Amino acid sequence: MLARSLGHRVPARSARLARFSSARRVFLRGNSRNALVSRGLGLSESTVSNQSIFIFSRSGRTAQRFGTATFTGEVAHKSDKQIAAWLLGTAGAVFGMVVLGGVTRLTRSGLSMVDWRPEGSMLPRTDEEWRVEFEKYKRFPEFKRINQSMDIEEFKFIYFLEWAHRMWGRALGVIFAVPLAGFLLKGRIKKTPAKLPTRLPLLLLMGGSQGLVGWWMVKSGLEEPKDKRKDPRVSPYRLAAHLTMAVGLYSGLLWTGFTCMHPNRLAANAFSSVPRVRMFATSALGLVGTTMLSGAFVAGNDAGHAYNDWPFYAGRMIPEDVWDPDLKPQWRNYFETTGTVQFDHRNLAYITAPLVWGTYALARKNPATLPPAAVSASGIMAGFVAAQVGLGITTLMSNVPVWLGSAHQAGALTVYTSGIYLLHTLRYVR
Ligand code: HEM
Repeated sequence: MLARSLGHRVPARSARLARFSSARRVFLRGNSRNALVSRGLGLSESTVSNQSIFIFSRSGRTAQRFGTATFTGEVAHKSDKQIAAWLLGTAGAVFGMVVLGGVTRLTRSGLSMVDWRPEGSMLPRTDEEWRVEFEKYKRFPEFKRINQSMDIEEFKFIYFLEWAHRMWGRALGVIFAVPLAGFLLKGRIKKTPAKLPTRLPLLLLMGGSQGLVGWWMVKSGLEEPKDKRKDPRVSPYRLAAHLTMAVGLYSGLLWTGFTCMHPNRLAANAFSSVPRVRMFATSALGLVGTTMLSGAFVAGNDAGHAYNDWPFYAGRMIPEDVWDPDLKPQWRNYFETTGTVQFDHRNLAYITAPLVWGTYALARKNPATLPPAAVSASGIMAGFVAAQVGLGITTLMSNVPVWLGSAHQAGALTVYTSGIYLLHTLRYVR
């Protein structure tokens, strides 16, 4: 009965049904109703009957299955599963693109294509076309300084990876734009809680500019390094910017997708644990993001190939080169000195993981005043972060083989995804 009333205006008498349907949790919105909740679940019929009350299920499941009813003064929105699938599918493609980008970097393939055309290009087909591309590559420092012994077959492999990474980006544009055109024509892009008319152009802009940022990053690796002792490689700052933008785009797609799937917010001002757990979850997600950013500097400086013992740094508690006094300005140490970037990354992870576990502990302590999805999501995030720390240590101790480096990068995104989902389950009307 309750399930059938999903998203529809229901007469006040239905509230009585909710009251008797083993309602363990009642979420209310609006100051006038706070007082009612603080008196337990003593909903007064007269108050209810004077208001427009909507009863709908949470997280797309039926009220009966949860034994829960949700009351809110907000209009209850129906989920739009097609739009959600499109956005979440695009987010999945961004995930794949980030992992492929990691493989490209780890196999040192990223500098094999030395020019960039926004419209993209086909893979060379004839031997002559391959030879032309190889000759172009030979003019740049990576070949001259590192890959002089490379033959054309090896070149084809690294070229293919970089080409696939770039073409995946273009395919992503199509995956996003074609359904968008269809939804626009059908008038489906409406002002809903997902704020599609404002968010979609922003996401489009972020996706479009990612190609430019990628090329800006690659260009830095085609120049002769200022420090002659260093191998030619892309600027760690630009690598971090490229990864951060990809994560930003991914977050936007995920959040908007989840909102289309579960548009209704909790009216959680009646329950103290939701804001508190949300505060913890926000800090935990912020720290996951910061650890990821610091990981990009470990990757960008090839710092994973040093200090491959754990928990020490070549047998010491603090790496020997933790601060280079000659590096000017001094703050560059945080982003460019091998020992410092690795030290920062490890220690950020040691703060991040306990905070995620703390969030789970808090959620476990207050299960009756939280949506069940939030308790599960915090548990899943806690498990993922433990695995990620283990993966990071293994990656480091085995001197970053391609498959472990990629798994560690995918693991970071997985932890991040669970964090976004957790926060989304805790959206509430203030
Ligand atoms: C919350 C836990 C962690 C997160 C979210 C995280 C995230 C990341 C990210 C996003 C990268 C960059 C990957 C890339 O751009 O290719 C990275 C790199 C790296 N991380 Fe972590 N990490 C965590 C914990 C650790 C730990 C505990 C260690 C070791 C003690 C570690 C060791 C490394 C190493 C060696 C790299 C460089 C790998 C490469 O060159 O591709 N990480 N991490």
